[in-house]
Amino acid sequence: MKLAPSILSCDFGRLAEEVAAAHESGADWIHVDVMDGHFVPNLTLGPAITAAARKATRLTLDVHLMIEAPDRYLAAFAEAGADVLTVHHEACPHLHRTLQVIRELGLKAGVALNPATPVEAVRDVLDLTDLVLVMSVNPGFGGQAFIPASTGKVRRARSLLDAAGSPAELEVDGGVDAGNAAALAAAGATVLVAGSAVFGHPGGARGGIRALRQALG
Ligand code: DX5
Ligand code: ZN
Repeated sequence: MKLAPSILSCDFGRLAEEVAAAHESGADWIHVDVMDGHFVPNLTLGPAITAAARKATRLTLDVHLMIEAPDRYLAAFAEAGADVLTVHHEACPHLHRTLQVIRELGLKAGVALNPATPVEAVRDVLDLTDLVLVMSVNPGFGGQAFIPASTGKVRRARSLLDAAGSPAELEVDGGVDAGNAAALAAAGATVLVAGSAVFGHPGGARGGIRALRQALG
């Protein structure tokens, strides 16, 4: 199981140290939550902070674009050092073309699904999809409660990927913690994003990652 701490919950005044702490504690990827105040109600960060995270670690930078018309910014995030660029199905009328562009930039292409979007939404673009992200909260804020129906949705996404012979990563994002991590692993997830469970842990990133690893067994 890959763990992808979300820097949304870190202390931005100490970004480089927080990223380094996650890296040294055994994080596999660093998750970067980009919000535009339109697709989601919150505003967060952009290419400049992504570039700062890039300087702080060699780990895969997993950039989650919760923005309208993401095509406008794909090249900027590639330039900033993203490795994976994930766009929302709900924000992309021409998703097939958007995924093609991400791959042409030399990056891995991800598709995120809001809680109300069925897993079948990715079926016809699987040949261009390196990662499917199942949102287990409504995107927009860290620290929200995990939506219980998401576990079944991860299972359905796993079946869809396996039936198609797709090697895509299956990522879960939102409300992931030591209490649900093992069930998500059993459902077929390969990457768990965690913001508050890592950077908000009383033991910091090290304590948070250790707790998640323990729960995963
Ligand atoms: C939600 C973001 C998530 C979020 C995860 O809109 O996409 O990545 O920050 O944070 P937690 O783990 O606190 O739910
Ligand atoms: Zn995210």
